Amino acid sequence: MNVATTLGSITLRSPLIAAAGTVGSVHDFADVDALSVYGAAVAKSVSGEPWPGRPAPRLAPAGEGMLNGIGIQNPGIDEWRNAMPSPESLPVPVWGSAVGLNAAEFALVAKGLTAAGVAAVEVNLSCPNLEDGQMFALDSAAAATVVGSVRAVTDVPLGAKLSPNSEDIAEVAAAVVEAGADFVTLTNTVWGMGIDTATRRPRLSSVIGGYSGVPLKPIALRCVWEVARSSKVPIVGCGGIRTGEDVAEFLLAGASAVQLGTIHFAEPRAGRRILAELEAYCDGAGVETVDELVGASHE
Ligand SMILES: Cc1cc2nc3c(=O)[nH]c(=O)nc-3n(C[C@H](O)[C@H](O)[C@H](O)COP(=O)(O)O)c2cc1C
Repeated sequence: MNVATTLGSITLRSPLIAAAGTVGSVHDFADVDALSVYGAAVAKSVSGEPWPGRPAPRLAPAGEGMLNGIGIQNPGIDEWRNAMPSPESLPVPVWGSAVGLNAAEFALVAKGLTAAGVAAVEVNLSCPNLEDGQMFALDSAAAATVVGSVRAVTDVPLGAKLSPNSEDIAEVAAAVVEAGADFVTLTNTVWGMGIDTATRRPRLSSVIGGYSGVPLKPIALRCVWEVARSSKVPIVGCGGIRTGEDVAEFLLAGASAVQLGTIHFAEPRAGRRILAELEAYCDGAGVETVDELVGASHE
C-alpha cells in the first residue's frame, strides 16, 4: 500500500511525524536513524533569546500519561542555528518550531529557522503572551497576530500548533488560517498536575504542567474532529498515539498526518512499529492509500 500523504502543499513519505520536544533538535536525537520512517520530525521549540526553562522537577509520571513543566528550555535561535547541521545531512525532513513572548519574537525565530533550511515552520502557540500572560492559543486574535507576523517573514509551509485548553478550538483554527497558516497541529498538551502525597507538594516545580500520552488521545481526537467538521484546513493530529490503529482514528477524524510524542520516551523506535501496524490495518480493511481514510468518519 501507499503510505505517502499530502498536507496542503507538503508531500510526506509517511503520515508519521515526530512531535516537537520529544526528539531533541532532531540531529541530536540518540536514535536519529530511527526517524527515517517519518515524513518529518519537528525540532524542539526555539525562542529568540535563550530560555533557561524551569527548575527540577520538570517531569512526572501520571497514570498512563506524563506531566511536563520544562518551560521550553532552549539556547535561542542564534545558538540553535550554529548547532544545526545542514538539513540534507539528516535522514528526515526537519520542521522548525517557533516560540516567543510576542509576535515580533516569533517572527525573528521563524526567519532564523527558514534561513537554516527547515522544510516547514510550526508556531507553538502554547506559551504565554508577554502582554497579558494568557496563552496565545486561547485567544483567536492573539494567535492570528502571531501567525500573521510569521507569515510575513517566511515562504515555507506554516503550521499553527493549538491547545486543547481552548474553549473553541475551531474558532482559533479559523483565525489562524485567515492569518495565513497552511495547516494546524492538534494538539499540544492539556493542563494537568500531580501531588506527591508523601511530601504533600506538587510534583512539578511549575505546579501546573502539560499532560501528554495515552490519556490525551480522546481529547486531541475531539479537537481534530471539531476542526475538520468546520474547515478544510489540512490537519496534523497529535496526542497519545501509541498504535497504528490510533493513527487510523486520527486520519478518520480528519487529520492528514499525525505526530508521535511521549511514546518516544518509552520506545524511541516506535515509528517503525506503528507504521507497520497502520499498514496491517489498511491491508485488512482493503485501504490502498492513507488519503482514503482522511476525514472518512464525517461522511
Ligand atoms: C517532554 C515534552 C516536551 C515537549 N516540548 C514541546 C516543545 O518544545 N514544543 C511543542 O510545540 N510541543 C512540545 N511538547 C508537546 C508535544 O510535541 C505533543 O504536542 C504532546 O506531548 C502531545 O502528544 P503526545 O501525547 O503524543 O506526547 C512536549 C511534550 C513533552 C512530553
